[in-house]
Amino acid sequence: MEFSRRMQRFGDEVFLALDERKRALEREGKKLYNLSIGTPDFVPPLAVRKALAEAAMDPDNWKYALRDTDELLEAVCAYYARRFGVAITPDQVASCYGSQEGIGHIGLVLCDEGDTVLLPSPCYPVFIAGAMMAGAEPWYYPMTAETGFLPRVSDIPEEVARRAKYMVVSLPSNPMGSVGTPEVYREIIDFAKHWDILILHDNAYSDILYDGLEGGSFLSYEGAAEVGCEFFSLSKSFNLTGARISFLIGRRDVVAAFRKLRSQIDFGMFLPLQKAAVAALREPREPVLRQRDDYEARRNALCDGLSSIGWETPRNAGSMFVYTKIPDGYATSAEFCLALMERAGVVCTPGSGFGPLGEGYVRFALVLPPEELKKAVRAIDESGILKKA
Ligand SMILES: Cc1ncc(COP(=O)(O)O)c(C=O)c1O
Repeated sequence: MEFSRRMQRFGDEVFLALDERKRALEREGKKLYNLSIGTPDFVPPLAVRKALAEAAMDPDNWKYALRDTDELLEAVCAYYARRFGVAITPDQVASCYGSQEGIGHIGLVLCDEGDTVLLPSPCYPVFIAGAMMAGAEPWYYPMTAETGFLPRVSDIPEEVARRAKYMVVSLPSNPMGSVGTPEVYREIIDFAKHWDILILHDNAYSDILYDGLEGGSFLSYEGAAEVGCEFFSLSKSFNLTGARISFLIGRRDVVAAFRKLRSQIDFGMFLPLQKAAVAALREPREPVLRQRDDYEARRNALCDGLSSIGWETPRNAGSMFVYTKIPDGYATSAEFCLALMERAGVVCTPGSGFGPLGEGYVRFALVLPPEELKKAVRAIDESGILKKA
């Protein structure tokens, strides 16, 4: 069977090799600290689990949902008003099965074959997959140490800006853990207006910022809702990664077109999940803030621990990841990750998995408590891997 040319654009070799080795080590009974995947180990709120379970007992809730309920859309609007001070209306909101799926499909709404889209590099891989899915051509703007891991629209040449359809911006960023500033957002909005480019802001980590920083919404900036939309996921704030609940929020024509696309391929989000989402959106803020503090303790344990054993790792400002340069003496981040897993039992993700500009770095997900992270640091130290150079 000859599969489509589209399929040839998706690569997974590095991850497959690492995953196979990880499973072999697990079978051999090796103690592993798995910091490779960003799925929280914290529990979902009780009210959310109850809402889902109760709604699932009602046979009527097993029918096709067909659309987002008014209750759900209004709960999103109320959340945006309360949490971000942003006034939106239900016609500015559309659900999707996680930002992953939404970003994977939105290119089909916005692009034709060969169109240009602006993506950060390094970036969360579905940004690239979404562009590929639509047959669009990514143009990568750098978010590297040189740019402070932030977007710099002045890096985008005029002839690229002129033909670009949309630009993905995602802060706090994965894998880099950088956090946006009002100046960065204002520059992006001016740039988008000037070149008529749609901004897609992926807001997965609005509740995971450190050192007293407050997360927000892209839509809180003046003019944002005219030039863009935001993917707002419940996955990380409420530990609902497996439930797949996110929303596209913002520019009305884009939201309407996104709904139209979805209506061709989908019959709506399972009603018990819609109920669970409403419960999450009505949760008090305190547990979310406590959890942020827990993440901060983890970040401190890992960054400070690694720095203390001679692997200098600056503290990142947000997200549930730590991103750091690989030690000298390794040709690629994948080679280093394999060695780290074999020798120290610490599993992380090579930066090359986030695009070419991620090479030379690795990403750790903060999915273990501080005590475990300290043990992982000790295992790295004792393995002698840092002394290779
Ligand atoms: C930047 C970013 N966007 C989106 C996602 C996926 O979110 P969801 O669970 O809503 O699909 C992640 C998950 O790690 C992420 O890091």
